[in-house]
Amino acid sequence: MGINHIAIIMDGNGRWAQQRNRPRTFGHQAGVKSVRQVIEGSVKAGVSHLTLFAFSSENWNRPEEEVSRLMDLFVKSIDKETPELNAKGVQLNFIGDLSQFSDVLQHKMRQARANRPVQTRMTLNIAVNYGGQWDIVQAARSAAVQMLSDGLSPSDLDQKWYQQHLCLSDQPPVDVLIRTGGEHRISNFLLWQSAYAEIFFEDILWPDFDQAALQSVIERFAHRERRFGQTSEQVNA
Ligand code: FPP
Repeated sequence: MGINHIAIIMDGNGRWAQQRNRPRTFGHQAGVKSVRQVIEGSVKAGVSHLTLFAFSSENWNRPEEEVSRLMDLFVKSIDKETPELNAKGVQLNFIGDLSQFSDVLQHKMRQARANRPVQTRMTLNIAVNYGGQWDIVQAARSAAVQMLSDGLSPSDLDQKWYQQHLCLSDQPPVDVLIRTGGEHRISNFLLWQSAYAEIFFEDILWPDFDQAALQSVIERFAHRERRFGQTSEQVNA
């Protein structure tokens, strides 16, 4: 059973740093190494779509210093990594409400999205200022606008038509959702897109997550039975 789409909630940077008596931002910096590892590991495994939760709508409530250091880290990472990612066949894409970010950062995110590899092996979505509930509401707004302009009535609205308005509508649904850091929560990540995802809650803290850890999840996924609401007998028939 192949995996088209892996989504990851990268949690545990702060605790990883605290264990070393270092500031939380030290953990975020260390987390960039794990980001590289999962990109590499996913491309090797033939995964066509990878989505990383880098900054949630709720993360603005963190101390100002931590938020601004995270923003710096995003800018630096985009500058440093985009050419190399493109060379490896990775297409970058940012999802979320980008309008809240500085002009410089918004420009860099759009620029990174516009730079296309010669041949795309994998699409890397970075979710920033993203929330699953925000996504569903922005889709409802966009669907309502289209309904008005096309003269549609509420009974014309169905699941397939509506979901075209959500983020990642042109991409396969999430097969594997991983959360590191030991918490058992989805935290408002890809709510609609993960409807049938197999979920893996890993105790390992994000800066310790590497290609071997990803491989371990991929192997365990192969042993899960995905039933999509059917019985085991139906799936195996
Ligand atoms: C959660 O750990 C992590 C974040 C809020 C930030 C994730 C960001 C990175 C890994 C940096 C680089 C990303 C890119 C795409 C360049 P936490 O701080 O909530 O950890 P805690 O639960 O231990 O406090």
